[in-house]
Amino acid sequence: MSSDLTEETITEAVQRTFDTSTDPRFRQLFVSLVQHLHDFARDVRLTGDEWFTATDFIERLGKISSPTRQEVVLLSDILGLSMLLDKFNEDTGESATDSALLGPFYVEGRPTAENGDNISNGVAGTPMFVTGRVVDEQGRPIAGAHVDTWHSDGTGFYDVQLTEPLHGEFAMRALLTTDRKGRFWYRSITPRYYPVPTDGPCGEIMRTAHRSVMRPQHVHFWFKADGYQPLITQLFLKDDPYIDRDAVFSAQDSLKADFVRHEPGVAPDGTPVDEPFVTLDWTFTLAADNIGATR
Ligand code: BEZ
Ligand code: FE
Repeated sequence: MSSDLTEETITEAVQRTFDTSTDPRFRQLFVSLVQHLHDFARDVRLTGDEWFTATDFIERLGKISSPTRQEVVLLSDILGLSMLLDKFNEDTGESATDSALLGPFYVEGRPTAENGDNISNGVAGTPMFVTGRVVDEQGRPIAGAHVDTWHSDGTGFYDVQLTEPLHGEFAMRALLTTDRKGRFWYRSITPRYYPVPTDGPCGEIMRTAHRSVMRPQHVHFWFKADGYQPLITQLFLKDDPYIDRDAVFSAQDSLKADFVRHEPGVAPDGTPVDEPFVTLDWTFTLAADNIGATR
C-alpha cells in the first residue's frame, strides 16, 4: 500500500484491500460502497463536526432499535431505499400488481379467518367491507391463495399499539384463503392515515426537512400461492390528504383505490348495516413463479 495518500488516491488504496477476498459479491459491494462514500464526502466537503453528528446519529439509531422498533429499517424507508429495492427486486410480469412495503406492523401468529368474518375483534369504527379477487396474469382465478391482511383503526393505530380495549389480542388482521373463484372477503373497520414513529433519530431528519411524516390511509396485503411469486402490497385511499406525500414512498398510482362510502343499507355480502359504511374492492394479480418453487 502506498503511504503518500492524497484525497484522490486514498479511495483506490482502500478498495485494493478487498482484493484478497474470495467472495466476489462481497468485494463488489465494498469496492462500490467505498467509492460512493468517498465521492459523497468529497462532493459535499464533509466536515469533521458533520461526521461526528452522523456517527452519533447512527449510534442512536442502533440504541433505539428493538424487535418492535425498527429504526434502521425506518431510515431505509424514509430515504426511499426500501422502495427502491422493492422496485428492482420485483421480478414480476408486466401486469402483476405492484408491491409496497411490509412495514413494521405485520406480526406472526395472527388469527385465521373464514371469508365473511368480521376481523375487527370489537374495535369500534366505520364498518369496512373488503372484497378481493386473486388472479394470474392471464386473469384466471387463483384458488387456495393465502391472504394476510392488516390495517390500523379509525384513529391510525394498529392493534399492537392499542392497550384498550384489546389487552394483547389481535384485531384488524387475519389470514384468509381464496375460494375456488379466487375470491376473498371480510368485514372490518375503516383505517385512517397515521404518522411513522417520530420520537427517534428518523423523526429529527423529517422535522429538519419539514417533511410530512404521514402514511396515507391504507390496508396491507400479503399473498402467497403455490406456483406464484409472493406479493406484499397495500391499497391506498386515493383522495387521502397525504396521498401524494407518503413518508415511505409506497403510495403508487397503481395502488390508489376507492374506499367507497355508503349510506346505511346492505353490504356486498348481504349483511344489513344500520350505519354508514365503506366498501373496498380490488383484483390482485400474481406473477408466476418462474423458478417453479413450491411455498
Ligand atoms: C406501514 O405501512 O405500516 C409502515 C411502513 C413503513 C414505516 C412505517 C409504517
Ligand atoms: Fe401500515
